[in-house]
Amino acid sequence: NIQACIFDLDGVIVDTAVYHYKAWKRLANTLGFDFTEHQNEQLKGVSRMASLELILGWGGINGKTEEEKLAMATQKNEWYTEMINKMTPAEILPGAREFVESCRAAAIKTAIGSASKNTLTILNKLELTPLFDAVIDGNSVNKPKPDPEVFIKGAEALNARPSQCIVFEDAMAGIEAAIAGGMKTVGIGSADTLALADVVVTGLDKVTLEMLTSI
Ligand code: BG6
Ligand code: MG
Repeated sequence: NIQACIFDLDGVIVDTAVYHYKAWKRLANTLGFDFTEHQNEQLKGVSRMASLELILGWGGINGKTEEEKLAMATQKNEWYTEMINKMTPAEILPGAREFVESCRAAAIKTAIGSASKNTLTILNKLELTPLFDAVIDGNSVNKPKPDPEVFIKGAEALNARPSQCIVFEDAMAGIEAAIAGGMKTVGIGSADTLALADVVVTGLDKVTLEMLTSI
C-alpha cells in the first residue's frame, strides 16, 4: 500500500517552463544569440547552473569565469521571479490541487521534490503550501536529479519507505532519480520521453488513487 506521494513542481503542479524559457531567452538575446522551444525541452528538470551551461554551449560561448556565470544565472533568476511573482492559483495545472487533496483525504502523505530554489515562492503564489507535509527543494539538496537525494529526503521527511512512495515527474532525469531511490513512478507527459516510468499520463487530472494501487 502507498504511504506517500512525492510531486515534482515545475511541469507537474504548475507550468513554469514558459517563464523559465522567456527568462533564459532574454539572457541569450543579451549575449547575441537565441534558442528554440525545442531546445528548451532539454532544460526541464535541470538545475539553474546546469541549464546555463547548456545554453552557453548552444550559443558557442566559452571562457566565462565562474563569477560571470553566477551573475548571468542571478540575472536570469531576477527576470524569472518578476514573472512568477505575478502567478495566481488559476495557473495550477488541471487536477493537481484535487489530486493532492484526494491523497490527503486517504491519509497518504504528500511532499514536493523539486530542483527549484523558487519552490516556496511558487507554492505560496498558488496557495498550495498547506497541502504538502514536506517540501524538499533546490535549497535542501546537494546532488541534482538524476541523483535520488531529493526524493530520498522527501521520503525520510514523510517517514515513508521508498518502496511505498510514488513519485510524479515530467522530466526524464526525475524519473531516473525516483527509480534510483527505489520508488514507483508516474510520468506526466508523453510515453515516448518518459519510457522508464511505471505509468505515463498527460496530467494529474488523469490519475486516480485506484490506479496507484495497481502500480
Ligand atoms: C526545475 C525546472 O524544476 O527547476 C528547471 O524544471 C529549473 O527548468 C530548475 O532550471 C531550477 O529552478 P530554479 O527556480 O532554482 O532556477
Ligand atoms: Mg519538472
